[in-house]
Amino acid sequence: MSIPLTYSLMRYLAAKRSVDDRALNWQVWQCLVAALPRTTTEQPLRILEVGAGIGSMVERLLAGDVLTHATYTAIDKAPTLLAEARRHLPQWADQRGFQVDENRQGQLRVWRAGQHITIETEAIDVARFMAREHGRRTWDLLIGQAFLDLVDMPTTLPGLCSLVRPGGLLYFPTTFDGDTVFQPEGDAEFDRTIEACYHQTIDQRVLDGKPSGDSRAGRRLFAYLRTAGVDVLAAGSSDWVVFAGANGYPADEAYFLHDIIHTIYVALTGHPHLDAERLDAWVAQRHTQIEQGALVYMAHQLDVLGRVNRKP
Ligand SMILES: C[S@@+](CC[C@H](N)C(=O)[O-])C[C@H]1O[C@@H](n2cnc3c(N)ncnc32)[C@H](O)[C@@H]1O
Repeated sequence: MSIPLTYSLMRYLAAKRSVDDRALNWQVWQCLVAALPRTTTEQPLRILEVGAGIGSMVERLLAGDVLTHATYTAIDKAPTLLAEARRHLPQWADQRGFQVDENRQGQLRVWRAGQHITIETEAIDVARFMAREHGRRTWDLLIGQAFLDLVDMPTTLPGLCSLVRPGGLLYFPTTFDGDTVFQPEGDAEFDRTIEACYHQTIDQRVLDGKPSGDSRAGRRLFAYLRTAGVDVLAAGSSDWVVFAGANGYPADEAYFLHDIIHTIYVALTGHPHLDAERLDAWVAQRHTQIEQGALVYMAHQLDVLGRVNRKP
């Protein structure tokens, strides 16, 4: 594909689906499936997903027959992404033999033989949600995919853990962990400078006056979970590896790569340690390599599954 004229988080998240499907750590996934309690219509599994985006994870759980009886609360600060989740899910579910309707509370009900899932969405910042729900509601499973590297973990993680019942589960797939690799190598030293400066922008990101990023969130999660009273049940890498085969990049992954390069460009424009002309040339070369099917991109990430060990 040629270089996009515009970029959107919605298209990026849709393009990310096939990359994630390859990357997710299936040993951690199987531990999650094995650790889920038996559920019934009367006692459904209560799931909370934070930073749910366009609903890729609920679709993945439905497709894998992981959920039988469940209520699924999906929150995200971006209303347009949740609106897309609600638009996409019914047609996706219909194609897979699910029935779908919307009840009077505005929840989506998705069912087929042996499976009955009720999905509610709410556009809200996670900090506000945690403050509102603390002491009111708890969940059996909390999911945050590609999320913890975007928030201040020391303040956010304890709040998230407090929303999970004692013995409940936390699942944090594709948590970024500090390695970004592009091939072919250009000027190896300049590639390393780009990577270091980019990770620095993640670490120094401030949103609404709060620190909001950690380029080594994956590895740091272990200590934060221990402090929060969570035992790690399983962990493993879920690196993104994106490359073109004989037929080019799969699905919309060329767009995914253009978006990543554009994100780096936006983050590094005006960086005091980077020569602007060299950055422009680097970005232009990487976009050209995508058009040629020559760019290989890797990002190191971790999937972590934990269980809250505090007493009820
Ligand atoms: C990288 S995207 C991942 C989306 C989805 N989990 C996935 O993997 O496809 C991160 C998501 O977190 C949301 N997000 C970021 N900060 C948030 C916050 N403070 N509160 C709620 N949602 C937030 C963004 O809007 C975005 O949809």
